[in-house]
Parts: sequence; C-alpha cells; structure tokens
Amino acid sequence: MAECIEILKEQFLHDSATVKFYFAMNNKKKSGFVVKKDEQFFVYLNECQHLEVELDWQENEFFEEEKKYIVCATHGALYEPSSGLCISGPCIGAHLKKIAYTETSDKIIINLED
Ligand code: FES
Repeated sequence: MAECIEILKEQFLHDSATVKFYFAMNNKKKSGFVVKKDEQFFVYLNECQHLEVELDWQENEFFEEEKKYIVCATHGALYEPSSGLCISGPCIGAHLKKIAYTETSDKIIINLED
C-alpha cells in the first residue's frame, strides 16, 4: 500500500535541521529523513551504504559537530547533505538512497511505494 507523508517546512528551524519519519517497506519498518541545507530540501532513506543500519546516533541527530556532513553513527562515514555522496568512511563513493518528494510552499510531501 502506498503511503503519503507530509512534513511541514516550519519544523526546520535552522540550516542542517532534519526531520525523521517512519514507513513500511516490504513489510519492514524503515525510516527516512528530510534535511534542509542552504534553503533546499533533500529526502533520504535512513540507511548507511556500508551496512543496513540507521545513520542517526540519537533520534533525529544526523550531523557531525560542525553541521557540515551527515554522519553514520556506526563507523563514522560522512555524507554530503545535498548529494548524499559518501566522501569518507568504508562506503566512500556510494550514495544515500534518495526518496522522491514534491514540495508546496509550506510542505514536503513524500510518496512511498510499498
Ligand atoms: S554502517 Fe555506516 S559506516 Fe559502517
């Protein structure tokens, strides 16, 4: 069954803010996240490209200290927020999986296929 998730843009209070969401894929509970970077939004599956684990070290904490890169909590891979490219770590050169979305003036709308 397809699922539609709507996230209000007003939840992103600063640059590098993220909002995590959950959904079902192939009968498994998965999560994704929306990141706001340089006034743009990006939506990714919350899964490291090294092992099938979530990236956030605490719920909805995706960035390293300088708030420049998305970091995998398990072995420290760094990903560029705008492209999803892994620039350091065991999965260097791999990309986070993008999730398709549409945008209105006040919302990010994510359409997920089961
Ligand atoms: S699982 Fe993410 S870097 Fe190893």
